[in-house]
Amino acid sequence: MITDNEFRRIVAYVKGNYGIDLSQKRVLVGGRLENYLVRNGYASCDEYIKKVESNPKGGEAVDLINVLTTNHTYFMRESTHFDYLRNVVLPWVRQKAGGERDLRLWSGASSTGEEPYALAMVLLDYFGIESSQWDTRILATDVSTRVLEHAIKGVYLKEEIAPIPSHWKQKYFKQISAEEFQVKDELKKQVIYRKFNLMSPFPFKRKFHVVFLRNVMIYFEDDTKYELVKKIYDFTEPGGYLFIGTTESLDRDKTQFQYVQPSIYRKV
Ligand SMILES: C[S@@+](CC[C@H](N)C(=O)[O-])C[C@H]1O[C@@H](n2cnc3c(N)ncnc32)[C@H](O)[C@@H]1O
Repeated sequence: MITDNEFRRIVAYVKGNYGIDLSQKRVLVGGRLENYLVRNGYASCDEYIKKVESNPKGGEAVDLINVLTTNHTYFMRESTHFDYLRNVVLPWVRQKAGGERDLRLWSGASSTGEEPYALAMVLLDYFGIESSQWDTRILATDVSTRVLEHAIKGVYLKEEIAPIPSHWKQKYFKQISAEEFQVKDELKKQVIYRKFNLMSPFPFKRKFHVVFLRNVMIYFEDDTKYELVKKIYDFTEPGGYLFIGTTESLDRDKTQFQYVQPSIYRKV
């Protein structure tokens, strides 16, 4: 059992470094961490926390975030967003594009890849034969190396790809075993995966037309959330869009983004 003091240290460390508020998640943290400590032969949680605290870039700290993040996601989640992207946002991008046919889309909490791959299918489908004249590669980031490895491999179970329309399944996935399918290279190369902590300064050279930041800010406290939303606003092109989870919302008084419809915001 981890002690109250150890729990408090973990909570402070994770919040300070990753913005994630675990203070009400005693059972989740205890369960996942105890499991990890046993598997990795630690005599005590204290020994582990000391290693994490003394080397935030070390393997133990990487493991901690891999163990404690909640990465639940699935293909075509909140599918109204994909319809809106196709019917409203992409026509706007196409119409405003001059000589530079560059669509910059960022999936900022991409987890195991279902969200960015779905976005990539929408883009390829929309631009069709024009795709080759456009740079529509998606930047997909997450703080967990475990989920990024999964996403880069691009292997999913049959039931996991079930929500994908069948013509896309046929076009972009190959069957590699009785139960498993892998994303084909044509789709894979549309997504660039990077490890990125949303609490870090943004290193991006150019602003985004579209940002998907769905189902991650629920783990942050309000101040952290609105500081992040402000940074995203600054890195969004005028006219660009922010998509958040359908159970999330932004307070009008706390953001410059303009409300478009539930979970969709725009920089005007
Ligand atoms: C529940 S998943 C959301 C996946 C996808 N966006 C969706 O809506 O289905 C939340 C993801 O946010 C990531 N995450 C949490 N805190 C983060 C941070 N500080 N920086 C980057 N990613 C973070 C987690 O690793 C996890 O994969």
